[in-house]
Amino acid sequence: MTVNPILIKSSFSAVEPHGPEVAGWFYDHLFTHNPGVRSLFAEHIGPQRDRLWAALGALVANLENTEALVGILQNLGRRHAGYGALPEHYPAVGASLIATLRHYAGDAWTPETEASWAAVYEVVSTTMIDSAAAASEPTPTG
Ligand code: HEM
Repeated sequence: MTVNPILIKSSFSAVEPHGPEVAGWFYDHLFTHNPGVRSLFAEHIGPQRDRLWAALGALVANLENTEALVGILQNLGRRHAGYGALPEHYPAVGASLIATLRHYAGDAWTPETEASWAAVYEVVSTTMIDSAAAASEPTPTG
């Protein structure tokens, strides 16, 4: 399944009016299903909720601007290595993200929409994980 930008954008438009509440629901879902990752995050999740919400909007807005998107995701991935995010955490985050979008998208959600978001998340997480791994490699000398 490849990414279908029309399905991504139309479903995100249905979710968007709910605002940062969506990111709050996402964290509740993530921490309920994966209590082990809670300690990686600051105790007060409010500011983080707004940052995640802004990042999702930027992701959807730049979906067809591959060059900008890859740059954003490589930086994000490098920062995530510093937060203690491990490659094995990414599927859990992806599952909570998709559950959240499904919850808020209502009738705009179809199996095709879900497959398209899964394809987006695959590209996003692979790009972030690869750049985090590259950042932790020793810098070649001479
Ligand atoms: C598509 C995947 C993801 C996206 C778009 C995303 C987005 C973000 C954003 C925008 C921030 C704010 C700080 C910054 O920009 O550097 C952040 C922070 C953070 N993320 Fe992610 N993230 C993703 C995956 C993950 C995963 C898999 C984990 C692992 C559990 C994780 C754990 C964290 C932590 C611990 C912080 C710092 C929170 C704090 O300071 O309290 N993220 N993330």
